[in-house]
Amino acid sequence: MKILVVGGGGREHAIIKSLKKNPEITEIFAAPGNGGIAKDATCVAIGATEIDKIVAFAVENAIDYAVVAPDDPLVLGCVDALNEKGIPCFGPKANAAIIEGSKVFSKNLMKKYGIPTAAYEVFDNMEAALSYLETAPIPTVIKADGLALGKGVIIAQTCEEAKQAVKSMMEDKVFGKSGDHIVIEEFLTGPEVSVLAFTDGKAVKSMVSSMDHKRAGDNDTGLNTGGMGTIAPNPYYTADIADECMNTIFLPTIAAMNAEGRTFKGCLYFGLMLTPNGPKVIEYNCRFGDPETQVVLPLLESDLLTVMKACTNGTLAETEVKFADKHACCLILASAGYPSSYKKGFEITFTEEAEKATFVAGAKIDNGKLVTSGGRVTGTTAIADSLEEAIREAYRIAQGVKFENSYCRSDIGQRALQALK
Ligand code: AMP
Ligand code: GLY
Repeated sequence: MKILVVGGGGREHAIIKSLKKNPEITEIFAAPGNGGIAKDATCVAIGATEIDKIVAFAVENAIDYAVVAPDDPLVLGCVDALNEKGIPCFGPKANAAIIEGSKVFSKNLMKKYGIPTAAYEVFDNMEAALSYLETAPIPTVIKADGLALGKGVIIAQTCEEAKQAVKSMMEDKVFGKSGDHIVIEEFLTGPEVSVLAFTDGKAVKSMVSSMDHKRAGDNDTGLNTGGMGTIAPNPYYTADIADECMNTIFLPTIAAMNAEGRTFKGCLYFGLMLTPNGPKVIEYNCRFGDPETQVVLPLLESDLLTVMKACTNGTLAETEVKFADKHACCLILASAGYPSSYKKGFEITFTEEAEKATFVAGAKIDNGKLVTSGGRVTGTTAIADSLEEAIREAYRIAQGVKFENSYCRSDIGQRALQALK
């Protein structure tokens, strides 16, 4: 069986390493993959959004099943295009991927179907947005409508800052067309939880919960990043809260998408905030989160390909999705300076133990050597019986990943540990 994975980050490396456990798989291709993924899959030089080329490659190479991992090809209709050629895929079609592709769509969906989320207003006119801000409660949250590389959310602490954010999106178009429409929403407080869920459009099977660490610096200081580390399970997400989320958020979201004629199949990511008034949706992603996937999939005991195919075929209800009753911690090593400017091109070396435990994100092969090529370079995941031990092990094992200019947070998992105490 030949598999194609579209994408080329740490998440895709985690997906590929999980898929490889299935003996029926004879070959895995990654488009484009990366220098580290090349150890575990055949990388092909096709970008994740070059949909015509992806489809042509899949047809020529008789791909049996494709996994489309990143948001942009999903929103652009990569699954639709592959399906048209008869290639089954894991991932939503474009009309369902809009749940991530448009914040205006997802906010309106939640309002229409009574799914708990922050109160909000939508604006397509800058003057109206600016005048609304005169009396809006502070802090306030401004979001560009479309995909904005995870940077389209600004939490403004003053009215002036909020107005500046609106102008940068709507007038200066810093996020391009994503700023044509904006959402201004209520600032919520409480612990954040990431829950990834498998769905075939009928059943929902949530994966083990996790906690991301989005800020670049220790104690959640500095700029927002793609994520500097994760732990799973998230101690704030108790069994009672999980039940409540299933009934008030997960199942209603799947039903809402069906009612809109936009059946969602694949991995739906719920970014939740556990507010004093109950769990609320901060955002939906139409895909596996990164680095959440790097702690969640190593805990999956069921066969990933079997579960993915059940999502595609509509048989998820009768398919077991089992996670180990253990703890995981993923530590990201980044290039110092990330997410602003940073140097790249440094050679990366691993001890044998570290290589086994590491997913590679921003790296390429240059003259036969693996060198850094991005902001987030590697993610090293340890699994243990306790969270404390998983954290200790992740930090210890990651010392075996070496490159110049490397940076990591020193407090991944500490907030979760405090919550457990
Ligand atoms: P997003 O890119 O939508 O995940 O948002 C980035 C981060 O902004 C989230 O992880 C939250 O920490 C924060 N955030 C987004 N929306 C809100 C909100 N309504 N209230 C408080 N924080 C928020
Ligand atoms: N870690 C958050 C995301 O994948 O969007």
